[in-house]
Formats: sequence, structure tokens, C-alpha cells
Amino acid sequence: MAQLTDKNIVLGVSGGIAAYKSADLVRRLRDAGARVRVVMTAGAKEFVRPLTFQAVSGQPVHTSLLDPAAEAAMGHIDLARWADAVLVAPASADLMARFCHGLADDLLSTVYLATEAPVAIAPAMNRVMWVHPATRQNLATLQERGVAVFGPGRGDQACGETGAGRMLEPLELVAALEGLFAPPVLAGRRVLVTAGPTREPLDPVRYLSNRSSGKMGFAVAAAAAAAGARVTLVAGPCAMVTPSGVQRVDVETAEEMATAVQQNLPGQDIFIASAAVADYRVAHVADDKIKKSDAAMHLQLVPNPDILAGVAAASEPPFTVGFAAETSSVEEHARDKLRRKGLDMIAANRVGQAGGGFEADSNTLDVFWTGGGRRLGPGLKTQVAQELVGLIAERYQGSQGSR
Ligand code: C5P
Repeated sequence: MAQLTDKNIVLGVSGGIAAYKSADLVRRLRDAGARVRVVMTAGAKEFVRPLTFQAVSGQPVHTSLLDPAAEAAMGHIDLARWADAVLVAPASADLMARFCHGLADDLLSTVYLATEAPVAIAPAMNRVMWVHPATRQNLATLQERGVAVFGPGRGDQACGETGAGRMLEPLELVAALEGLFAPPVLAGRRVLVTAGPTREPLDPVRYLSNRSSGKMGFAVAAAAAAAGARVTLVAGPCAMVTPSGVQRVDVETAEEMATAVQQNLPGQDIFIASAAVADYRVAHVADDKIKKSDAAMHLQLVPNPDILAGVAAASEPPFTVGFAAETSSVEEHARDKLRRKGLDMIAANRVGQAGGGFEADSNTLDVFWTGGGRRLGPGLKTQVAQELVGLIAERYQGSQGSR
């Protein structure tokens, strides 16, 4: 992927412990071919010294709005014009609030107001701060204005808590930024994506589900939106942030997912089923919590509707893409599914081994269609998703004459 080659990136660093990772991010961006200039807030300088960023970027670091020397060389307007994209990583809760309100009392907030380049933020904060209504509202406002939001991820936090609010890793941010420069291969197209697991209740407190994290489906939705499509994402329960510009419909069970897909299907050009839909649900959901006893328990399971096969069998189906999670004989099983479900394309991944599959950040996909196939990756799910969207666009366009 050469999306960042010769691109000018202003990297804004605000005050947060994740600022230490941003030094590595500068190196990764430069490895990807970008030129990087770093703008630090006063808070950022409390965590990392400007000299660190100067060393890794090979450029003077910009820290002050009213610095005569900096203004003479490259002031805020020049920086704003120079940028092909502005990425703020980490973006603190304070930084988001300042951008949201259009403050212009430091260099980074002023560059944000003065630039016409795309802007992305990579939030990083304590999980409670991340879900605070003030942060939610600021996030929504920034997204409405077209600011791309990368992450945050979930995991252990510097404050000792665990949850959503961790800055994405440098390589994930590079991949997400590449998405901003993705060619608009799906401009004007409507794409419907399913993602995540489904949850099939047994009683009011228990359910059957699977280990799908939703990462791949959300990455596909983000990549399709970056490629210019209008994307609707029907998501099962998962702790993922909605990608910028994507309309999200939350569901819980397979039946709810099937209904949401049918409701959103009219007018879609492409359907990508990446959800790990539970194949069965319990025949009778108990009204009350099932009591424990010493006797063995038998659950009667009934099959769920096959959402993907249903869409592919419609009278005028969109271009349909399925996923296949396989543990062995990947091509054989995937091609069988392609035929049986009447799909245009299937993306198979090998699960149950290290370096890919359900909860991992990386993946390899073997993609098959009638008469052809291609391997995508190995790479981060975000990168593989971009490649997959490129391939889908190529095959979709090719299919238009024959429909
Ligand atoms: O048959 P299998 O479950 O392996 O097929 C996987 C593909 O079918 C995935 O694309 C998945 O999203 C889709 N699927 C579906 N509805 C189901 C089961 C699977 O859409 N009930």
C-alpha cells in the first residue's frame, strides 16, 4: 500500500500518557513514506520532550502559537496549508472539547481551524471519561464535521483500569490514515455490512454466543466508507467504536439481525456478511432464570435463518460477499459455501490458530469467486479490510455488465 508516499502529515500530540507511543508512530509514518511535522500541546510536553519528536521526525517540533522564530519559518497558517492530513494522536478529552468549540489559543487548535486538509483524531483517555456524555457529544459533533475518529481500542489502561479508551497502536493508526487517502472506488455506492457475533438468549440472564470481536467487519465498514460508499453497518453486541461516516444499527439476536438486514436491503449495491451469526437459538427462551439442579440439562436448539443465503436468493440481489471461518480444508469448504449460498465472492480465514481469526488484530484472507481467487495479507485487519474492499470494488464493477 503506497497511500502515504510523499504525503505531508501534521501529527498533533496532546497531553496523555499515550504520547510516548506517538514517537514510534512518527517512525512508522515515515517508514510508510510520509513527511511528518509534529505539533505538541503544552500538556504533551509534560509527558514527552520535544527533542524526542525532533529526533524521530528529523524536523523542528512546533509547540507554540506565538513563537516569532517558528512563525518566520513555518507558522500555523503555513502548517495548516502544508498538511495533506492532520492526525492528532493521542487526542485527549480536553483536546476534543477544544476542537469542538473552535478554541484557537494554542498552535494545534489553531491549525485545526485553519486547515482544509482531512483531520483525524485517535482518542486516548480513561474509560469513564470516554463514555461521559460531554465526551460523547463532542465526539458526535466532530464526526458530523467530518473529523475521522480512529479507535479507541479496549484493554488495560495506564490508570490501572480496563476498558475502551486506549489509543490504537501505531501500525493500526498508519493503516487507518492510509484509509483517508484511499481511492474512491466505491463512490456513490451503497454498502450493507453485518459484523460481530449474535447473542441467543436462554433466559433473562444467559445467552449462547461466540468469540467474534467485530474487528474485521468494522474494519470492512470503515474501509468501504473511506472508499466513498454510503455504509450501513448492522452490528451484533461488540465493544467497537462506529467508524466515521458509517450508519450503525445495533442488534442482539440472529433474528433481529435478519430483520435489520431485510429492512435496510432495498437500494443496496453490495452486501458484505462478516457477522458470526449463531447457527442455532434455543427453541423456548425461559421467562425466568433457569434454576440450577443436579440433573443433566438439555437445550433444544432450532436453526436460525441464514441471512446471507436469504439476501443472495432475493429476486434482484446486491453483489453478495460472505465470510467463512474455517479450521481446515479452507478452499474446499469456502468454495462449497460460495456455490451453496449463491454468492459472488467469499473471504475465508483460518480460525483457531495463532496470528489470525476472531480476536486477533491481524488476519490473512483467502478470497474466492467462480473461476478465481486471491490471497490478501497477512496484515492488520484494517489493512486487509482495505485490500478486500478494493477487490470487492474491482469484482463488483466487473459484474455490472453481466447483470
Ligand atoms: O455457513 P457459515 O455459517 O459458515 O457461513 C458463513 C457466512 O454466512 C458468513 O458470511 C456469515 O455472516 C453468514 N451467515 C449468515 N447467517 C447465518 C449464518 C451465517 O448471514 N445464519
